[in-house]
Amino acid sequence: MTKTIEFPRGFLWGSATSAYQIEGSPLADGAGPSIWQRFLHTPGLTPSGDTGDVACDHYRRYASDVALMRELGMQAYRFSVSWSRILPHGKGAVNPAGLDFYDRLVDALLENGIEPLITLFHWDLPAALDDLGGWLNPDIAGWFADYGTTLFRRLDDRVKKWATLNEPWVVTDGGYLHGPLAPGHRNLFEAPIASRNLMRAHGAAVQAYRAAGKHEIGLVVNLEPKYPASDSAADLAATARADAYMNRQYLDPALLGSCPDAELTEIFGEAWQPWSAEALKLARQPIDFLGINYYTRSVTRFDELAWPQRAAPVRQKGATYTETGWEVFAQGLIDTLEMVKKRYGPIPLYITENGAAFFDPPVAEGNRVRDPLRIDYLRKHLTAVHTAIQRGIDVRGYMLWSLFDNLEWSLGFSKRFGIVHVDFESLKRTPKDSARFYSRVIATHGAALGEDPDSPHVR
Ligand code: BGC
Repeated sequence: MTKTIEFPRGFLWGSATSAYQIEGSPLADGAGPSIWQRFLHTPGLTPSGDTGDVACDHYRRYASDVALMRELGMQAYRFSVSWSRILPHGKGAVNPAGLDFYDRLVDALLENGIEPLITLFHWDLPAALDDLGGWLNPDIAGWFADYGTTLFRRLDDRVKKWATLNEPWVVTDGGYLHGPLAPGHRNLFEAPIASRNLMRAHGAAVQAYRAAGKHEIGLVVNLEPKYPASDSAADLAATARADAYMNRQYLDPALLGSCPDAELTEIFGEAWQPWSAEALKLARQPIDFLGINYYTRSVTRFDELAWPQRAAPVRQKGATYTETGWEVFAQGLIDTLEMVKKRYGPIPLYITENGAAFFDPPVAEGNRVRDPLRIDYLRKHLTAVHTAIQRGIDVRGYMLWSLFDNLEWSLGFSKRFGIVHVDFESLKRTPKDSARFYSRVIATHGAALGEDPDSPHVR
């Protein structure tokens, strides 16, 4: 007999999105352009040519979207604020209409019994700040803290959980080193500078929160456990480099006040400069929780040509891969949570993103979208979260990525991560089978994870 799964009462169940990926109307009501607005409107930079001009039109449909969240039984909603709606030039004059939008969204959530979790920065840097160097300009720590303060003053009376940055690794790796993401730079020397300024900005925003807010603030990182493909010295060293580059480059400064300099010097050579005492001190501010985004793992081998870390992933025979080419590997989530506890101590944790893009069939009769692979992914990962809690790891909530099919950045609308299908012509929302499944998991405190997915009440 399988054991019944029961999550602790008070465990927070929700879903996650980000501003540029769902809102649409990016320049409405006095907002300034972000780097994503500029990037996706530059012809030829992305294969699809898709932009966030409309996306899910959430900016105009937020009230019915919140009603849908309630219908699905969501207890929490993690969203990000568009910096350039609040400060069209990134700093200086505040745009009251931008603040009003998030004020209304927060009220709508609370009226529907849904707890808001706000991320200050989910990649959509104001274009005006990019013109000043963006994450390469050390002054950005102060700009970010001031932006945060504007939001804390307005919303902290109602918002109890805040996060500074979403996934600093992706910002530097995609935006400054390899370039598929805005602002699209490819520069070995810039990436370490961007990382350092991101983490300084994180620290400065936490300090600003201690002055202006009364609740909780944390950092959101995407963690990917690295397993050596063999026990050869070359593979072991490559695995350590890959881990330092993606995971410890951000966790160590925030939580230990140090940097994995040895590996980062091997990776970046003369482009890596050890952080100053000021940077290390600023980055390490006491935080109230760590948000972990987990999607996959990487089995890693030495590869001379994999620039710059000389470490490459090895495809696993017989494994399931998602539409974004990520191996489905739920054990990696348990390993990640255990690693965090062991290395960094007993900090409260939230899974702030977890989910999968799979090919979905069109909406069928009776408004059904059958997405069994996504259900399977969720079942495995939620069971992993439960196992981790049983092993004494302090995981307090789970924010599924994503509530809606949305703009998958440079990949446009081609990759669907939502548990709610969005028809990008009519903008109609249709909960997929996975949404029904997740609703039932929430309503049963996890017990539905042990149910047959084809049973009628899972739908
Ligand atoms: C990001 C999301 C993104 C998701 C799927 C995360 O790295 O925070 O914005 O859509 O992964 O790629």
